[in-house]
Amino acid sequence: MGAMPPRLRRLRRTEALRALVRETDLAPRHLVAPLFVKEGIGEPAPIASMPGHAQHTLESVRKEAREIAERGVLAFLVFGIPARKDPRGSEAWNDDGIAQAALRALRDELGGDAVLIADLCLCEYTDHGHCGVFDEGDRDAPANDPTVELYRRIAVSQAGAGADLVAPSGMMDGQVAAIREALDDGGHAGTGILAYAAKYASSFYGPFRDAAEGAPSFGDRRAHQMDPANADEALREIRLDIEEGADAVMVKPALAYLDVIGRAREEVDVPLAAYNVSGEYAMVKAAAERGWLDERQATLEVLTAIRRAGADLIVTYHAREAADWLR
Ligand code: PBG
Repeated sequence: MGAMPPRLRRLRRTEALRALVRETDLAPRHLVAPLFVKEGIGEPAPIASMPGHAQHTLESVRKEAREIAERGVLAFLVFGIPARKDPRGSEAWNDDGIAQAALRALRDELGGDAVLIADLCLCEYTDHGHCGVFDEGDRDAPANDPTVELYRRIAVSQAGAGADLVAPSGMMDGQVAAIREALDDGGHAGTGILAYAAKYASSFYGPFRDAAEGAPSFGDRRAHQMDPANADEALREIRLDIEEGADAVMVKPALAYLDVIGRAREEVDVPLAAYNVSGEYAMVKAAAERGWLDERQATLEVLTAIRRAGADLIVTYHAREAADWLR
C-alpha cells in the first residue's frame, strides 16, 4: 500500500488553525507613515494622485499624526516642501525651515512616544528638482561630493530639530559616512541613520513627485539611483552603508523588489526597512476606486508580502488605513 498523500489543508480549516500556524506577523508597529508638510499654505492641499494624502500645514500635520499614532503606528517619515527654492536647496538646512518646524511641531504633539524620521534630500528644495547640486557647466548629474557637503548641514539641522533618525535618500556615494561624522561632530551622536541604501531609479515614484514637488525639471536620476536590473549591486550598496555607519537600511521600492528584500534579509542583521512607494499605493487606490480589487485585502496582502520577504519595517501611505484594519 502506498503512503497517504500529505493533507496540508488540515491546518487551513478554520481561522483559529490558520492563526496558530501563521508565519508572518503584521502589526501597526511595523508601519512608518510618511507626512508632507508645506510652507506658506493656509489649508491642507489634497494630493490628487495620492487619495487620502495631503500637503499639510503645521497645524493639520499635528492632527493627522496624532490620529495615526492613536492607531498604534509609532514612526513618521517627514518631508518638507519649502516656499522658496534655489539652485542649492538652501532651505533644507535652514534651522527654521519647514521640515525643521514640522519636526518640532510633531515632537510637541506626540512627545517621546513617537519616532520621527527626517527624509534627507535636496530634490524638494532645489529649483531644478534634482537631489543635489551641479558643478559649473555640467548638467548631466548632480555632483557627488559637493552634494554630500550639503547633506552634512541638513543632517545636523534636522537632528537639532529633534529627528530621531535622518534618512538620506539621495544615493550619493559616501553620504552615510559623511552624515555620521557631521552628526557626531555636531553633538548629535545619539541621532541615528536610516539609509535608503538600495534605492532604484523607478517609475513608481511618479505620484510622490507631485506630492513633494520634487520632479527634476530636466534629465532623470539614473546616474545616481540604481538600475532596476541589478540585485548583486544592491547588496554591495547595503553592505557599504552599514560599514559607513547606517543604523538601519532600506530597499526602495518594495513590491517590484521583493527578491532584493529577501536577499538583504539573509545578508544583514541590522533592521531592514522597505518603502512601499507612492506608485504602488496609487495602483491599489486606483484599482479599488474602480471596484477592480478589494482595497483592504489587497493592501494587507501587499504589506504581509513585504514582511514575509524579510522587511522589519514598511514605509507605506496605507499606514493609517492598514492600522485601522489590523486593530
Ligand atoms: C527624495 C525621495 C523620493 C522618494 C522618497 N524620497 C523621490 C525620488 O527619488 O524621486 C519617493 C517616495 C515615493 O515614491 O513614495 N529623493
